[in-house]
Amino acid sequence: MILALETSCDETAAACLAVDGRLLSSVVASQAGLHARYGGVVPEVASRRHLELVVPVVREALERAGAGLDAVETVAVTQGPGLIGALLVGLSAAKALAWSRRLPLVPVDHLHGHVASLFIGPEPAEPPLVCLLASGGHTMLLDVPEPSSYRVLGTTLDDAAGEAFDKGARLLGLGYPGGPALDRLAQRGDPDAYRFPVARVPGLDFSFSGVKTALMYAVRDLPAGELERRRADLAASYQRAIVRALVERALAAAGGAGAARLAVVGGVAANSELRARLAGTGAILTPLELCTDNAAMIASAARYTRGIPYPDYLGIDAYASLS
Ligand code: KG4
Ligand code: ZN
Repeated sequence: MILALETSCDETAAACLAVDGRLLSSVVASQAGLHARYGGVVPEVASRRHLELVVPVVREALERAGAGLDAVETVAVTQGPGLIGALLVGLSAAKALAWSRRLPLVPVDHLHGHVASLFIGPEPAEPPLVCLLASGGHTMLLDVPEPSSYRVLGTTLDDAAGEAFDKGARLLGLGYPGGPALDRLAQRGDPDAYRFPVARVPGLDFSFSGVKTALMYAVRDLPAGELERRRADLAASYQRAIVRALVERALAAAGGAGAARLAVVGGVAANSELRARLAGTGAILTPLELCTDNAAMIASAARYTRGIPYPDYLGIDAYASLS
């Protein structure tokens, strides 16, 4: 089986996946509570917490899989992109595990990991696909011709969709992480109360800075004391604008194939309005528990990524950004 680690941001995660793609265990220790008081992820705090959590989380993943280290044939780990200090904790732990058992190591690209969340059993998606990857760090349309590769068709020119949700939530006085909180509040609001703009940039790119600014002005222009009464309507209207932009562009990218070949992954794929808009269209929505960062998707990507034999991986480094 494959043992995978993921520590690119503020989730410490480990998972065990059978080589045939069956998920045996997936453990995610979220640090969200730890960062909430700062209103966002503090990189140095995240690295330290990963250090404390990585061994217990790996232990728990093995325990839940009913396996010991003897059963591990391959170790996989997120190499980047992400917070460099956070990545280094996972990479060092994975190197140590692989080296001590003379196993191969598979360094995984985090974005490929999100895509590979689609290929976990019992009903894996089958490429070719057009994939919308919407997370806190990225918003991209990808052409996925096969499980092992992807090509970028479009990307955000400014904020990622998840970032837009988080910043909007902050403007509305909701806590961190903002996406899920805004999603919950929006369910009580009127999505037609405000008309927030959807940026129309050329091609298949996205832009979310305009809608964020529009929300900022809407909040600023409210009469004193009105925010509390209008908060749910603002959240619902703001969410609708973001979801509309995502769905329009994704369907455009899918082109003639329509939603039938469209798949959606990443933290924002957990958004209830996005899921509702695409339900019944034939689009593939990655399972809720695999939307936000996890190690199961990293293990899945490792099935389609060339491993590095023992001990050649000891010198590899993490990378913070794609470029
Ligand atoms: O994929 P992910 O866990 O981390 C990155 O790779 O960035 O995505 C996290 C992002 C955060 O911005 C979070 O607010 C957003 O996904 N998110 C949501 C929802 N759940 C998570 N955004 C909108 N609605 C949700 N239900
Ligand atoms: Zn992610």
